[in-house]
Amino acid sequence: MSTTFQLNGETCRFDGDPMTPLVDLLRRDRFMTGTKAVCREGFCGACTVHVEGVPVPACLRPVGLLEGLSVTTIEGASRYDAEARRLQAAFERVDVVQCGMCFPGMVMNLSQFLRENRSADRDAVKHAMVGNICRCTGYERIVDAVMECLAEAHSPGGTDV
Ligand code: FES
Ligand code: FES
Repeated sequence: MSTTFQLNGETCRFDGDPMTPLVDLLRRDRFMTGTKAVCREGFCGACTVHVEGVPVPACLRPVGLLEGLSVTTIEGASRYDAEARRLQAAFERVDVVQCGMCFPGMVMNLSQFLRENRSADRDAVKHAMVGNICRCTGYERIVDAVMECLAEAHSPGGTDV
């Protein structure tokens, strides 16, 4: 069976089992290894991508359900999504990344959260991160980086002024 969808702005056609998890198509067929496969059960958030702009776990999304939809991975977001790029820069500034397995999924989840929640406080950011598990680092500094992005957005020259 054939499924066609947009992947990072380009047409992607997949001929194969429609139940193939999106994360396997990305990593094994397209060599897009930025999307991580960790738990494969929808708990850790490492495989988060955007489908029609909504963060979803790619391990639970069968390719056959993507017909006609638009998918963005961390590779695409790093190129075209200003919010994701700002978040990546803040993570680097705060020097919070360790093994890095969790971060692509965090960027995909939190970039959308930042777009939709310009007035979020620290607790709201923490709540938004419940689906992103990090085994290496303390979460507080990750929250610091997100708060930096929010402050930037409100500052003179930021995206909201
Ligand atoms: S690998 Fe998909 S949520 Fe963990
Ligand atoms: S930095 Fe290693 S899992 Fe988060």
